[in-house]
Amino acid sequence: MPDPGRTADAIQRILDDLHAKYRDFDDGKPADYIPELSKANPKDFGIVIATTDGRIYEIGETRKEFTIQSISKPFTYALALKLHSDAYMEAKVGVEPSGDAFNAISLHPQTGIPRNPMINAGAIATTAQVMAFDPERAETLLLDFYSDMAGRRLDVNESVFRSERDTGHRNRAIGHLLRNFDIINTNPEPGLQLYFRQCAVSVTCQDLGVMAATLACQGRNPVTGTEVLDPDITTNVLAVMGSCGMYDYTGQWLYNVGMPAKSGVGGGVMAVVPGRLGLAVYSPPLDSYGNSSRGIAVCEEISERLQLHLFNQPSRAGTTIRSATTAQRRRSRRWRSEQESQQLDRHGDRIHVLQAQGVLDFAAAEELLAEMQSKASAGAILVIDLQQVLALPRVDAELLREEIDDLAKLDVPCLLCRGEHLREFWPQGEGQLAKEGQYFGSLDRGLEAAEDMLLEALLREAGEQPPQTCTVGLLELLPPQTRSQLEPLLERRSFAQGELVCRQGDAGDEVFLIESGLFSAVLGPPVAEKPLRFATFSPSVSFGEMAFLTRSPRTADVVADEPGSCLVLTRSTFDRLEREQPQVVIDLLLALHQDLARKLGRTNQQLLLLEQG
Ligand code: DON
Repeated sequence: MPDPGRTADAIQRILDDLHAKYRDFDDGKPADYIPELSKANPKDFGIVIATTDGRIYEIGETRKEFTIQSISKPFTYALALKLHSDAYMEAKVGVEPSGDAFNAISLHPQTGIPRNPMINAGAIATTAQVMAFDPERAETLLLDFYSDMAGRRLDVNESVFRSERDTGHRNRAIGHLLRNFDIINTNPEPGLQLYFRQCAVSVTCQDLGVMAATLACQGRNPVTGTEVLDPDITTNVLAVMGSCGMYDYTGQWLYNVGMPAKSGVGGGVMAVVPGRLGLAVYSPPLDSYGNSSRGIAVCEEISERLQLHLFNQPSRAGTTIRSATTAQRRRSRRWRSEQESQQLDRHGDRIHVLQAQGVLDFAAAEELLAEMQSKASAGAILVIDLQQVLALPRVDAELLREEIDDLAKLDVPCLLCRGEHLREFWPQGEGQLAKEGQYFGSLDRGLEAAEDMLLEALLREAGEQPPQTCTVGLLELLPPQTRSQLEPLLERRSFAQGELVCRQGDAGDEVFLIESGLFSAVLGPPVAEKPLRFATFSPSVSFGEMAFLTRSPRTADVVADEPGSCLVLTRSTFDRLEREQPQVVIDLLLALHQDLARKLGRTNQQLLLLEQG
């Protein structure tokens, strides 16, 4: 995760520049129909950008409190959608733009349903539903919710509240009209009272930036991490902000700025670039629509300069597949016999390793699915690494599951790796797939399983049985005479499953030649929950020679993964041979070097691949 404390100077400079450019822009004047608002300082001017990573860029009066006014409307609408069913709310307020001023008495002529929750009539109807839900606790519910959106405790500015309560006759008239149409079913006064109080909630430009970023983040506050709002409700709220948030200026705003937004007569403007950022401007002078003049000008320029218009988004095509390779290049950390390695060299291109990245939304998921499909020729095996996938929305998780099922019907197995973090993909947990050998907690294990599958398939296709006995590769590198002199001197040692063969730090005084079983070199105590394995050795492979040759301590534990046996060359045998049969030692050293050179060659290949990505 990036450090939210760090911000980019280049972005900050843009805000500084905009602030300097618009500081002296003096169109409009602060609202005065609510007497207390006329006291605002027209020079106050703040700009905030809050990212969906929780980073905040700010300039000017961003910590000065002012009243939220109409910017409260989308939040109360969100709260009402949280408290009531969709059908209930549909009967109380519409979602059609009215094209009217904020204080227009814009009700449906027959039903009396206000056009939308962003104009006063719809907002009063909405607040009344919060009041109806729990008259005792309505204000607490509302303030708690706003506070969660902002990530800090918010409260009501009592003098602004009183000022509007005592002068808000038009809003009071709207409330009674709504009572007349039964949109409000009880005395409208408590709901109106709550509406005046919500408009008088004191916020800073920074609060509005974070609240906007929370909407940009599908309802998760990116600063506190709290899931405040359901993504579906967030979408609904942004939709009405998009079509109705700037009153009768909304069409032009969407055309010029291209973001769902909301303004307030306190001088605030809040705009949202979904999935990207929240933007807030504070400047009290208003234009004839009741929107902050500087706010509009700054948002227009930010949208243009930073290319944030929603309808001007670059395609992300081609960014989903982080890497696509085959097992001819990329191998697991399993060391196999020379024969098996050669088989993988020859046929490894049947194993396709796809590493996906980013947010797998529809377009990205489609890219991955198409890529999977293109690799799915007969006999292919797919290994899909999900570690760098940041999110997999439910619908796209279903598409991925379907694709995997389709490929399974074509006998193309898909082995998924490192996707535990994608909760949407595992409605029943990843355990079931792991049991079926289709899910692996590490890419290495997935690759290893794919190699095993391919080697089995190759035997099946050739009509061969797996070899019953195996010859030790190192011995095969020796001249026959040396081999017959050496073999009787090797000690045969059997290991039970889980038995420790040697321990990190032990003297490296033995070389092990595997006859049967699998042995893993692991870092960390073998009892640890997830010891890191850096190699698994198969029959015919030898291990322990590096510490033996360099006379250095063991660098890892080696554990028997299954029952097995090894031929062991001890240091004392080696030393005795050196004295008594030097030619055997020379041949042995040559064989060890040949074996090591082969291993080094393969290791280099994997390192190169890592570097190339
Ligand atoms: O109801 C009112 O008139 C105010 N409390 C809020 C109006 C408002 O903010 C309009 N927005 N630009």
